[in-house]
Amino acid sequence: MGNNQTVTLTVHGKSIIAEKGAKLSELLGIEIPCGGHGRCGKCKVIAKGSISPVTESERSLLSESELACGVRLACLTRVTGDAEAAILKESAVATAISDGSTESFQLLPAFDGCGVAVDIGTTTVAARLYDSSGALLADAACLNPQTKWGADVISRIEAAMDGKSELLAEAVRSAVDGTVRELTAKARRTDIGLAVITGNTVMLSLLTRRSAEPLSHAPFKTEHLFGESMTAEDLSLSSLPADTPVYLPPCISAFVGADLVCAALAVGLCDGDTAMLADIGTNGELALWHGGHLTVCSTAAGPAFEGVGISAGMRGGIGAVDRVSVVNGKLFAHVIGGVKPVGICGSGLVDAAACMIALGELDESGYLDDPVCVIAGSVTLTQKDIRMLQLAKSAICAGSLTLAEHEGLSCDKISRLYVAGGFGSYLNMKNAALLGLFPVSLTERSQAVGNAALSGASMILLNRNMKEKAERISKGARVLELSTSETFSEHYMTGMAFKRV
Ligand code: FES
Repeated sequence: MGNNQTVTLTVHGKSIIAEKGAKLSELLGIEIPCGGHGRCGKCKVIAKGSISPVTESERSLLSESELACGVRLACLTRVTGDAEAAILKESAVATAISDGSTESFQLLPAFDGCGVAVDIGTTTVAARLYDSSGALLADAACLNPQTKWGADVISRIEAAMDGKSELLAEAVRSAVDGTVRELTAKARRTDIGLAVITGNTVMLSLLTRRSAEPLSHAPFKTEHLFGESMTAEDLSLSSLPADTPVYLPPCISAFVGADLVCAALAVGLCDGDTAMLADIGTNGELALWHGGHLTVCSTAAGPAFEGVGISAGMRGGIGAVDRVSVVNGKLFAHVIGGVKPVGICGSGLVDAAACMIALGELDESGYLDDPVCVIAGSVTLTQKDIRMLQLAKSAICAGSLTLAEHEGLSCDKISRLYVAGGFGSYLNMKNAALLGLFPVSLTERSQAVGNAALSGASMILLNRNMKEKAERISKGARVLELSTSETFSEHYMTGMAFKRV
């Protein structure tokens, strides 16, 4: 045993000296999708020895059999003396994936040493580093620096067509290099044997310096849908040794990318009953699995849910208002990190609008009583912010309704809605239903799965058979074009109102 202040924690047979009272999530480097607030139940580990007692939150999020087997939530468990812990493969492989889909995940790493999975989102670049035992060694994320050329994929395509393609490629490469360097520094490992980089079709095209021209006009056809291996040198990535293989998973169409394919893989979308997957990013992508077929579509939601384009918007980090409720007839904001509020992130925005409606400060049409509504401290929302939220939520809702109707389904026949995307884990589904972000019948069966695109890329990294499965998903998918769909236009117009659908 260490001195009074330190204890020994044995992880997979290796001992580490830890500070007494430290949380297992910090010591094990486990991802904490809900910020370690004990809300998502995704940070499961097995722990025994001198550890803090099981909390109420753990009792509500873990089953009796899990508790009996020593499963704990790493973000709520502290070491109080010498202890042992084991990272559950599923928490390492895909923290955001449903319990069911990971149960069958088999570890067959496609690399030696370490592997890195990267998701290039239109707004955020996120990455994870794993070792060959499936343990998550580190994670990192940064803002996609291409945002200075516009918030959505269309403005990036326009910038590329305007002679900025090399600058856009350089920007995204620097973001990938930056996150990979952060991972290797955090984990003190440089032996990366494979990288899997996923993203939407536009992001992968810009990364690989392919012409964005075919993506700029109808019929939005692209010749190249990736699903190929390159090297770090081919991509001019300086954070990896030149000959490191880099796999770019396959896209489905110009606006339904490898990120959706990876997310579908992560949640096991094509392995079960009728289910829908919604990847809520700046470019919202939707997929419906029904009758043995996958139908996909994309809908331009804009970046509001990622905290961009909103006057006080920010990503969900320290200082962000991430939850809002009504207490004693007033708005009550929760701020990440318990600090002074700095801005508001997507989940806070949805909550704030729902609460403002409850208080009569905002009406169903989206009209704000006062020109500026104070959420907390200096964080306010304006009429323009509310309009941005209406556009974003209507695009997602109209897309999901159109997709279901195209398959001749009513939403209550869909057994599950997987909500992927950075803010999905924090989204209050009751408020999402109240605003009409999703049809009510779908929200009742919804499951937040976090950054499932990154989880899917991680699965490709950690099981060499997953590459083939991703390719099967992309080849078998049918694309539903929403831009020419009258049904979509109708749902989009009526969907602007804040009301249950
Ligand atoms: S990170 Fe532990 S419960 Fe969410």
